[in-house]
Amino acid sequence: MTSSSPVRIAVAGAGQIGKRHIEMMGRMPQRVALAAIVDPAPASVDLARSLGVPHHASLRDLFADGRPDGVVLASPNQLHVEQALECIAAGVPTLVEKPVAHTLEAGRRLCEAAEAAGVPILVGHHRRHSAIMAKAIQVIGSGVLGRIVAVTGSVLFYKAENEGYFDGPHRWRQEPGGGPILLNMIHEIGNVRALCGEIVAVQAFTSNATRGFAVEDTAAIALRFAGGALGTFILSDAAACDRSWEHTSGEDPRYDPAHTDDDDCYLVAGTFGSLAVPTMRLQRYATAADQSWHKPLAKSRLPLERADPLERQMAHFAEVAARRAAPLVSARDGLANLRVVDAIVEAARTGRVVATA
Ligand SMILES: NC(=O)c1ccc[n+]([C@@H]2O[C@H](COP(=O)([O-])OP(=O)(O)OC[C@H]3O[C@@H](n4cnc5c(N)ncnc54)[C@H](O)[C@@H]3O)[C@@H](O)[C@H]2O)c1
Repeated sequence: MTSSSPVRIAVAGAGQIGKRHIEMMGRMPQRVALAAIVDPAPASVDLARSLGVPHHASLRDLFADGRPDGVVLASPNQLHVEQALECIAAGVPTLVEKPVAHTLEAGRRLCEAAEAAGVPILVGHHRRHSAIMAKAIQVIGSGVLGRIVAVTGSVLFYKAENEGYFDGPHRWRQEPGGGPILLNMIHEIGNVRALCGEIVAVQAFTSNATRGFAVEDTAAIALRFAGGALGTFILSDAAACDRSWEHTSGEDPRYDPAHTDDDDCYLVAGTFGSLAVPTMRLQRYATAADQSWHKPLAKSRLPLERADPLERQMAHFAEVAARRAAPLVSARDGLANLRVVDAIVEAARTGRVVATA
């Protein structure tokens, strides 16, 4: 690779999200070239042929044939650490899909191996590459809201039972570990940590009363942040509602392409002002003398850019693979997200407050 030639990236796991990563690469041929597909499933042989790239059944075969500049690991969760360790041993920067690991212990092993070898790992929390998130982080970081005291979030949508989502090969989504806490809430945790800082303790109620599966369909979650702020999230995949990141951000046309820019999924409140996300409605006291609940707040709406975060993530990974940028979401960051989600599951199971440290 020269500084002007495209970065060569192999995709391991050409399933639902792996194919989307390949699509993203196709949008930036000057920067990225698909080097190979690695997947033991027979269907992936035809896919590789149709794309004109080599096919390998395993990472071992891929590395025996040469070394790409980077690997995207979009394989099932249980394989993430084992395969990332193979990439680290080969010295190849890797984008590991979320969750970074299937257990905290495995995640710790991955972090240590990556850091010891100096091989960059980017974890696929793609929403961290959202331009909307970047703007919200910048506004909060600028201090215009004062000291952050509270955040609230809503993750409400309906996963249809008649679209095969819960059946056949996807029956695991009815079982513990296959529900919205692990699949969806982990994205919110990544976002809210970026907005409000580290989460030190959680409490949670879960319910499976609607679908009756072994796994939760609904959860009410309380968060305590290191800086003293508190947060609440309401999560359900059985709610006829579009108050979710996917729907309100308008970043993914698969969800409500006709969205109206009117709804928010987060509200971050500080002592001097508050910001609703993603509409970027800001309310703020005009001066320190106005800081009272009897005085009006000045209201404005900040401009924002909308761009596909999966595409921005791929552009960033090309820089990481070329060793020109450090990962925006490191393995340690991915592990911190997993630790909070693990604590939420534990809190719901035991009815206790669970510390994440
Ligand atoms: N970032 C996101 O928003 C997002 C969205 C969906 C999935 N994911 C994550 O991506 C991963 C894949 O999810 P999916 O929905 O695409 O699953 P999927 O079942 O559609 O695809 C998984 C693919 O991995 C292949 N595979 C199995 N064993 C393999 C091996 N040893 N080496 C290489 N490939 C192997 C399978 O044949 C399949 O093609 C999961 O970790 C999931 O959590 C992330």
